[in-house]
Amino acid sequence: MQVIRSLSQMMQLAYPAGKSVGFIPTMGYLHRGHLSLVQASKKECDITVASIFVNPAQFGPKEDLSSYPRDIERDLKELEKLGVDYVFIPSEAMIYPEGFDTWVQVQRLSQILCGNSRPGHFKGVCTIVLKLINIVRPDKMFMGEKDYQQLMILRKMMHDLNLKTKIVACPIVRETDGLAMSSRNSYLSTSDRALALCLFKALKEARQAVSEGKTDAHMLIALAKQTIRIAGANVDYVEILDERDLSEQEIIDEHSRMLIAAYVGKTRLIDNLSLKPEN
Ligand code: PAJ
Repeated sequence: MQVIRSLSQMMQLAYPAGKSVGFIPTMGYLHRGHLSLVQASKKECDITVASIFVNPAQFGPKEDLSSYPRDIERDLKELEKLGVDYVFIPSEAMIYPEGFDTWVQVQRLSQILCGNSRPGHFKGVCTIVLKLINIVRPDKMFMGEKDYQQLMILRKMMHDLNLKTKIVACPIVRETDGLAMSSRNSYLSTSDRALALCLFKALKEARQAVSEGKTDAHMLIALAKQTIRIAGANVDYVEILDERDLSEQEIIDEHSRMLIAAYVGKTRLIDNLSLKPEN
């Protein structure tokens, strides 16, 4: 495994002709969710490239940029074990040199869900991902459904800007009790860790209600909000949207997905689930 910390070296890296390149962008502090993306790339592509960069542009002024968990040495060991070929670790100055002044924004999709409570977040995500794609030049980019809105926004960006890289969506990896894996779970105290389960509980209850014939989105949303509040977490949003384009839905159908963001103590967690019964 080769670790690349130079921008020009990564940009000029000559991949062997005819070999497919898979890419996994991350902010590090890797867990099994990230590693499942690496495994998917290893399966589908000849060469696998991962990047580790805690992107300041996607953090708000009051967010957790300085305390975001980091452990590059451990991350490199995990990536090496899985047979990653290249790891790109750029510096902030390389990515955002003085005078940097160009931003990429997907309009409608960035204004809903997490876009409401994290203004500017998706502008930061789109800009870094477009830069990384230009630098790494992958055939496929592997992304988790854990960040479902991010996935949809990046798909839209790729389509609207005629980018050739194909996005491969991978399922959410969960702890054995159902909590969606996240680097931010490391912020949770023991009691908050138990409380955090209410997100998945609310999602499962909604899917169960749908399997019993409930189809009113407003009713299901109210039920999920109640479950989260009773547990003691603070709801940021609970929505049921069409998973193909994140448009609103009144009545449940096979494309309905529930998306939740909630504060557990000071930690903001997100999760989502398709409401299709057989899932
Ligand atoms: P990060 O939160 O490190 O996540 C990197 C990738 O791992 C994303 O595609 C995310 O959806 C995926 N992922 C995280 N938790 C997962 C889980 N439990 N199961 C499956 N996949 C999971 O998302 C980002 O970084 C950044 O916004 C980034 C795209 C790197 C741009 O800075």
